[in-house]
Amino acid sequence: MGMKMVWSSTRWKWVAVCTLVMAHQIAAQVEDGLLINGDFETPPPGGFSNFGVSDGPASIPSWKTNGAVEIISSGEKQGGMILIVPEGEHAVRLGNDAEISQEVKLEKGSIYSVTFSAARTCAQLESLNVSVPPASQTIDLQTLYSVQGWDTYAWAVQVEEDDVRVVFRNPGMEDDPTCGPIIDDIAVKKLFVPEKVKDNAVLNGDFEEGPWMFRNASLGVLLPTNLDEETSSLPGWIVESNRAVRYIDSNHFTVPEGKRAIELLSGKEGIISQMVETKPKKPYRLSFSLGHANDKCKQPLAVMAFAGDQAENIHYTPNSNATFQTADVNFTAKAERTRVAFYSVYYNTRSDDMTSLCGPVIDDVRVAISRSSKTKLGSIVLMLALAFSLFGM
Ligand SMILES: *[C@@H]1O[C@H](CO)[C@@H](O)[C@H](O)[C@H]1NC(C)=O
Ligand SMILES: *[C@@H]1O[C@H](CO)[C@@H](O)[C@H](O)[C@H]1NC(C)=O
Ligand SMILES: *[C@@H]1O[C@H](CO)[C@@H](O)[C@H](O)[C@H]1NC(C)=O
Ligand SMILES: *[C@@H]1O[C@H](CO)[C@@H](O)[C@H](O)[C@H]1NC(C)=O
Repeated sequence: MGMKMVWSSTRWKWVAVCTLVMAHQIAAQVEDGLLINGDFETPPPGGFSNFGVSDGPASIPSWKTNGAVEIISSGEKQGGMILIVPEGEHAVRLGNDAEISQEVKLEKGSIYSVTFSAARTCAQLESLNVSVPPASQTIDLQTLYSVQGWDTYAWAVQVEEDDVRVVFRNPGMEDDPTCGPIIDDIAVKKLFVPEKVKDNAVLNGDFEEGPWMFRNASLGVLLPTNLDEETSSLPGWIVESNRAVRYIDSNHFTVPEGKRAIELLSGKEGIISQMVETKPKKPYRLSFSLGHANDKCKQPLAVMAFAGDQAENIHYTPNSNATFQTADVNFTAKAERTRVAFYSVYYNTRSDDMTSLCGPVIDDVRVAISRSSKTKLGSIVLMLALAFSLFGM
């Protein structure tokens, strides 16, 4: 016990020293991962216990605040309700029209995804405006996706300068000023657009490239509506519905292939799509893995898969103990670009809490010219065989 306290106080000193050093460096290029004090665990001057509502610069280490910004501690109560701290011991709450921001050095022209955890305090329609000015998006916190009372979200932006500000603002104007979203664990990641692979018109069809995920965060990352494929947290893909889909990792979920996949949530209200390059009039085959995330999701699980003018309702019925199956949709391309899209047929929740949203998992999405055109290859083989037999071999 004594040892532990000594260790942790030394650690805090270290953190404080590091923060000072960093503050004096002229905005070093941000590496992928947590922003400086992005988890709000660095003690403010005077310590956490003396911290009231802040309004002004530098009272939360490494962050600039504007309006009523408050550090909350795990276990803290408000009107009989325990405030939710997504991770660790502390988080911040943004009051009416309040904001926090941090200056970061990114790479002009690149696309970055910002990952953060958020919870709402009261039942009102709370939302968060995330921005890297001039780009911004308002994330609706009304839908609770997990029973824990908080969720992790990602938002992507193409940065127009090297020195930018990452800003979180509560656009709300509630009668009760203590209502307001709680945020925690803010990270950034530079996104790469994966190269097109041979024999697959789908970009990032294995979903391996996506937003930052914390190694030990077990709720996955929600990808809210993003109608612009150029700045999607999931390169190549668009979330075109008003509800989010969940980006999941193999550390906490069952994933058909690689380390990442998508779990479709909220039935028709959670749609992902991609426009893929096709040659008109050619026959194609859309194939993908369909599985379960091993998150106690109540069956049945099924997806609607769209490819051009074809739609297929596919139920998850794996063989024996497999965690996924492969499915396909055949279609004939009508244009140079064909839309492929997926949503969950059912509105599933977890069987243990009956509240957390869950659903079928998709992975390894491929679109390729269909095998039927390979009959040509078949006939060549046949002709060769014939030729060989003619030569008496
Ligand atoms: C979000 O904040 C940005 C600036 O930080 C502002 O330009 C934008 O209008 C805000 N959006 C909404 C919907 O309030
Ligand atoms: C997650 O990891 C971080 C750093 O590795 C640690 O400080 C934190 O306590 C961990 N959180 C949980 C919930 O295990
Ligand atoms: C299914 O699981 C059982 C027990 O876990 C195992 O013995 C069996 O080999 C598995 N079957 C397949 C097809 O993987
Ligand atoms: C698509 O076509 C292939 C053969 O080219 C066939 O094996 C498969 O069953 C077809 N899929 C569907 C869903 O009809």
